[in-house]
Amino acid sequence: MESPFKAEILKGKVGLITGGGSGIGFEISTQFGKHGASVAIMGRRKQVLQAAVSALQSLGIHAVGFEGDVRKPEDAKRVIESTFKHFGRIDVLVNAAAGNFLVNAEDLSPNGFRTVMDIDSVGTFTMCHEALGYLRKGGHGRDSTSGGSILNISATLHYTASWYQIHVSAAKAAVDSITRSLALEWGTDYDIRVNGIAPGPIADTPGLSKLAPYEIKTQAREQLPSFHIGDKWDIAMAAVYLVSDAGKYVNGTTLVVDGGSWLYRPRR
Ligand code: HXC
Repeated sequence: MESPFKAEILKGKVGLITGGGSGIGFEISTQFGKHGASVAIMGRRKQVLQAAVSALQSLGIHAVGFEGDVRKPEDAKRVIESTFKHFGRIDVLVNAAAGNFLVNAEDLSPNGFRTVMDIDSVGTFTMCHEALGYLRKGGHGRDSTSGGSILNISATLHYTASWYQIHVSAAKAAVDSITRSLALEWGTDYDIRVNGIAPGPIADTPGLSKLAPYEIKTQAREQLPSFHIGDKWDIAMAAVYLVSDAGKYVNGTTLVVDGGSWLYRPRR
């Protein structure tokens, strides 16, 4: 679908997207590139990264891939330094890397719980922490008047409670809290805007194919005419808005992009 935004809305910006090689992270990388940004993508799987970088480059996008695991502080540091070395600045950090699987709480080991917390919550904080020196006003490659921005990909699972998602719900609740705390501290001190997006069910993502309950794909759609599954494009457009100047007064919010799905209740 064609973008409603001007093609140069992100011109001159450099974005680093964790989990940028696949799913929602890849679509955000693509749309950032199509709107004028240069993009670095970070991921654990070399082949996925290479394929993603080739696909981005074939669209004429300045793209580079760096292997790394957000759970490892040394990887976070290296990838952020490499992005700066490659492009000379970093304007936007998108934390889209996530780990997930369906499991009931009874069968989830504490290490399984910790693994998802480590990827989603600690990984997000680690990336933000390492990127601060580049995103803050007056930071490496920046002038002293404006800071960059951070976008954390969250979920709506924890607004109520979700079956078999105790680990991810806890992890995303922490992500939303990190978004608000950093928006307060770094917005005030360094002119960095920190926001989030909470996607609903999105077609062609691991989140939907692996995790969404059967009903979401079948009965619920028929029961609620307004319910529909979104596209990765919908999330990417929200991302473009939030990191562009159009969103310059938005700080500390997590934008729900789900077509109203999380509000759904069966009609009485
Ligand atoms: C129960 C499991 C499990 C499963 C792993 N574990 N998979 N427990 N059911 N299916 C437990 C292991 O037993 C182990 O605990 C611990 O988790 C670590 O497992 P490892 O396999 O060693 O971890 P690792 O290789 O680092 O893999 C991390 C992972 C991985 C999260 C488990 O599967 C992963 O990254 N998956 C793909 C990522 C993904 O799908 N991303 C998209 C997310 S979508 P023990 O105690 O045995 O040592 C998303 C959207 C949310 O986030 C909203 C959805 C609606």
